Amino acid sequence: MTQNNKVPFVDLVTPHRQLEPELVAVFREVLNTAGFIGGPFLDKFESDFAKFCDVRHCVGVSSGTDALRFALAAAGVQPGDVVLSVPLTFIATTEAISQCEARPDFIDVDARTYTMDPEKLREYLERECTFDAKSGRTMHRAWKKPVTAVVPVHLYGQCADMDPILELAAKYNLTVIEDACQAHGAEYFSRKQNRWRKAGSMGRAAAFSFYPGKNLGACGEGGATTTNDDAIAAKCRMIRDHGSAKKYYHPMIGYNGRLDSLQAGILGVKLQHLAGWNQQRVECAQRYDEMLAPMSGSVATPYQPEWSKSVYHLYVISTPNRDALQKYLSDAGIGTGIHYPIPVHLQEAYSFLNYQRGQFPVSEIAAEQILSLPMYAGLTADQQRQVCSTIAEFEAALATR
Ligand SMILES: Cc1ncc(COP(=O)(O)O)c(C=O)c1O
Repeated sequence: MTQNNKVPFVDLVTPHRQLEPELVAVFREVLNTAGFIGGPFLDKFESDFAKFCDVRHCVGVSSGTDALRFALAAAGVQPGDVVLSVPLTFIATTEAISQCEARPDFIDVDARTYTMDPEKLREYLERECTFDAKSGRTMHRAWKKPVTAVVPVHLYGQCADMDPILELAAKYNLTVIEDACQAHGAEYFSRKQNRWRKAGSMGRAAAFSFYPGKNLGACGEGGATTTNDDAIAAKCRMIRDHGSAKKYYHPMIGYNGRLDSLQAGILGVKLQHLAGWNQQRVECAQRYDEMLAPMSGSVATPYQPEWSKSVYHLYVISTPNRDALQKYLSDAGIGTGIHYPIPVHLQEAYSFLNYQRGQFPVSEIAAEQILSLPMYAGLTADQQRQVCSTIAEFEAALATR
């Protein structure tokens, strides 16, 4: 991938070369046993990933999008419900909501963390909704629809500020489903519980993606729902397998959304390295922080509050001259990304909801200024120096113009 770049945005080749004997052994075992679906690789991975996330259940599924959709459906989100999330995310977050035939609505993100702003969630619930104590339901005043769930996104590897979100959700009887698709191993310090908590363990359920570029990635597609709720886990297991817990008996209409055994075996091998890889990402982030500090007037580096241990799925800077900087870096052979250039409420796919520019200004400004720098376990200090000196060159040229 991006082999021509002097510093690629991501390197998926090297870790797979390093793990080749173990990965090939998994493939051989799957071939030899023809155990393509279910079986020991899946059981072991589900049990190991549940332990890693500090939850009772992990249900392997075919993608992060399905993990989120199944979690929402299993938690009881119904057609016509309103489900709250953020505009600054990958569209899969709201796709999953839409696929449940619910209507997504948005809470803007915090300007420093880029995750759901709990104050704005509070304002939304107070301004737009009424809580009916008798039915225990929160209703959207204008739309006369129940607001039933909230999906905070742990963006770029950093948890959303979960304490106030969980508190508001409890007050308004909303189900919290974490979008942890970018946050394998991230931690959040709950001031309320006075302890660190793992991403994927705080809501009623959570969704992870194992898309190849994630901190824990498959050699293909994959995802998982994690939960401490026995009923949700059982329901997700049924949904992923055509609504069935017993072969050819289908109490409900489900879906074909399983994680196959080969991917589960591969993920099992890679899971053993995840903590080490995450640590390398954290060290890379610290080096970037130091190298970019002299440019703090024009380049903002990621903000990590004291309650967060990010796993830096992405290292995202922000600068008013983003597009020119991206081109300058690209011309110098440095790969970057933009996550994401168009906030979801302004995506063409959601034009039917009639959101306007200006409604979620923090996400909109972020979308114009954010730039993801090369970030992966194995990125060297020398490569990072190249990235940062090229940014410094660009900034110096700007200053003298
Ligand atoms: C925040 C977020 N949510 C959901 C998803 C969906 O995951 P997948 O691509 O595995 O369906 C992704 C993956 O890119 C993501 O980044």
